[in-house]
Amino acid sequence: MAERKPLISGNWKMHMNHLEAIQFIQKLSYALDQADYKSADVSIHPPFTNLRSAQTVLDADNIPVALGAQHCHWEERGAFTGEVSPTMLAKLAVSYVIAGHSERRQLFGETDDNVNLRLKAILAAGMTPIMCCGETLDEREADQTEARITDQVDGGLAGLKRDQVGAMVIAYEPVWAIGTGRTATPADAQAGCGLIRERVAANFGANAAAGVRIQYGGSVKPVNVAELMAQPDIDGALVGGASLEVDSFSRIIRFRLQ
Ligand code: 13P
Repeated sequence: MAERKPLISGNWKMHMNHLEAIQFIQKLSYALDQADYKSADVSIHPPFTNLRSAQTVLDADNIPVALGAQHCHWEERGAFTGEVSPTMLAKLAVSYVIAGHSERRQLFGETDDNVNLRLKAILAAGMTPIMCCGETLDEREADQTEARITDQVDGGLAGLKRDQVGAMVIAYEPVWAIGTGRTATPADAQAGCGLIRERVAANFGANAAAGVRIQYGGSVKPVNVAELMAQPDIDGALVGGASLEVDSFSRIIRFRLQ
């Protein structure tokens, strides 16, 4: 199987203003060195208001951290108050866009159908989607984990081309593990990520399944990252709380070197 370089992504959610973002990025760049960037790709996903400042610092200091967004609309322009389009993000040198995070699904009514529209729009704008999926605690306890993940993967990726799927990122984020300090065991995380890869193989073929990078997300910390990343189908981490401190985020990025 092709070697997949891990992708460690920091999802800042609704944290930090643009001045804090600038400071954070400068400190992060002092904390990381070439060996770190060789061992993992890194992306940060600040709130929209910080993207311009973040892009300027990353550019000016030649910092090899990719810029990401947390969300976007699927239309290029129009009467969609409060929304931001994929082409606006691409113009700011955004490389990765998260789509279908569980908080957006639960709090803002996102469905598999509109996640699918978003993925197509992100790809059309030349960026890489990070599609999130994962079951709630109720679904897990009702033995619906597999059905839920299958629906999200099938629905979210419907109609995409094989090579698009092979080059994108999917994050398995069990909702019960997000922000709770309750990390999935490496075996549970592997089971979810393995299932996602199987669905990709069934729908898009072996090459797409070998190429797609699958992240685990949900209470990833410096102490648990290495054993999670050691699982065969886990190719990175989507980190919330622990990505807000340079110390913990840089230790997570460096998981292979600990
Ligand atoms: P935590 O790492 O804070 O659990 O958040 C995970 C997450 O939702 C990343 O997208």
